[in-house]
Amino acid sequence: MSRVLVTGGSRGIGRSICLRIAHDALARGKTPKIVVTGTGTSPDLNNVVAELKALGAEALAVPGDLNDPDVPANLVAHAVEFCAGLDAVVHNAGGAIAGTLLKTKLADWETVFAVNCRAFFLLGIAAHPALRQSKGALCAIGSNASEAMQPFLNAYPPAKAALTMLVKQMAYEWGRHGIRVNCVSPGLILSRSTESALSELKDQERVGAHIPLQRIGSPEDVAAVVAFVIGPDAAYLTGENINVDGGLRHLGPEAVLGQASGWSAECPGGGMRPEKK
Ligand SMILES: NC(=O)c1ccc[n+]([C@@H]2O[C@H](COP(=O)([O-])OP(=O)(O)OC[C@H]3O[C@@H](n4cnc5c(N)ncnc54)[C@H](OP(=O)(O)O)[C@@H]3O)[C@@H](O)[C@H]2O)c1
Repeated sequence: MSRVLVTGGSRGIGRSICLRIAHDALARGKTPKIVVTGTGTSPDLNNVVAELKALGAEALAVPGDLNDPDVPANLVAHAVEFCAGLDAVVHNAGGAIAGTLLKTKLADWETVFAVNCRAFFLLGIAAHPALRQSKGALCAIGSNASEAMQPFLNAYPPAKAALTMLVKQMAYEWGRHGIRVNCVSPGLILSRSTESALSELKDQERVGAHIPLQRIGSPEDVAAVVAFVIGPDAAYLTGENINVDGGLRHLGPEAVLGQASGWSAECPGGGMRPEKK
C-alpha cells in the first residue's frame, strides 16, 4: 500500500496517518506516493508534504473543500495521476459544528453530512476503477460518536453513523471487485479539534482517568490501526468498524458512578468493588 490518498491529512490524525503510511512503505523498501488534502486555508497542508518528502516519500498537496460535491472526484483524479494508480484511499477529513439540535441550521447539518459522509461515497465512486485494478482498500475515519449520544454535536453522530453503514454497503458491493472497505473509529484523541478543551495536562489526566486504558489517545494510536486496515495483513477484513478508543465506548453507568463517587480510588483493586468485611 504505497500509493495512497489521505483526505484531511494536513494535521491531527490525518497527518499521523500520512507519516505512518510513509514509514511503513519505506520499511518495505517501497517509495511511498502520498496525496494529502485539506481545505488549503492554512500552511499545515504544505508542511505535511514537506515532512513526507524529508522522509523520502513522493508527496503532493491538493487543496479542496469537501463541502463541494465536485471536489472528491477531482482529488482522486489528481491522486491517480500523481501516483500512476492508487492502492488506498483514507477519508479522514471530518468534524463537527457544535450546537444543539434545536439550534442547528440546515446548512450546517448538510455541511457535516457532506464532509463526514457524502465525501466518502463520492471518493469511493471516483476511486473505484483504480482500486479495482490494484485490488486496493478504502478506509473511513468514523467516530465513537456513531454509537453514543454526545452533547452539542447535533448532526455529527448521525453523520458518522451513516458513514459506518455506507462502509458496510460498499464492502458488500465492491468485495467481489477485490476492494476492501473498512472504518476506523477514534474515541477521544488529542488533536486540534479537542485540544482547546484539553490544553492543560491536568485536564488530560483527569479525563484520561475515565478511560479504561487510563489515557487520552494519540493520533499515532489511530494511524497504526489505519495502516493495518489498508495493509496486506488485513487481506480478509472488510465491512468492519474498528474502535480505537482505549475501551471508552464500553463504559457503563457503574463505571461513571464509580469515578464520580471516588470509591475506585479507595479500592486497592483499582476499579473493582471493595470486598465486604
Ligand atoms: N480528535 C478526536 O478526538 C476524534 C474523535 C473521533 C473521531 N475523529 C475523527 O477523526 C478525523 C480527524 O480528526 P482530527 O481531530 O484529527 O481533526 P482536525 O485536527 O480538526 O483535522 C481535520 C482535517 O480535516 C480537514 N477538513 C475539515 N473540513 C474539511 C472540508 N470541508 N474540506 C476538506 N477538508 C476538511 C482539515 O483540513 P484543514 O487543515 O485545511 O482545515 C484537517 O486536515 C475526523 O474525521 C474526526 O471526525 C476525531
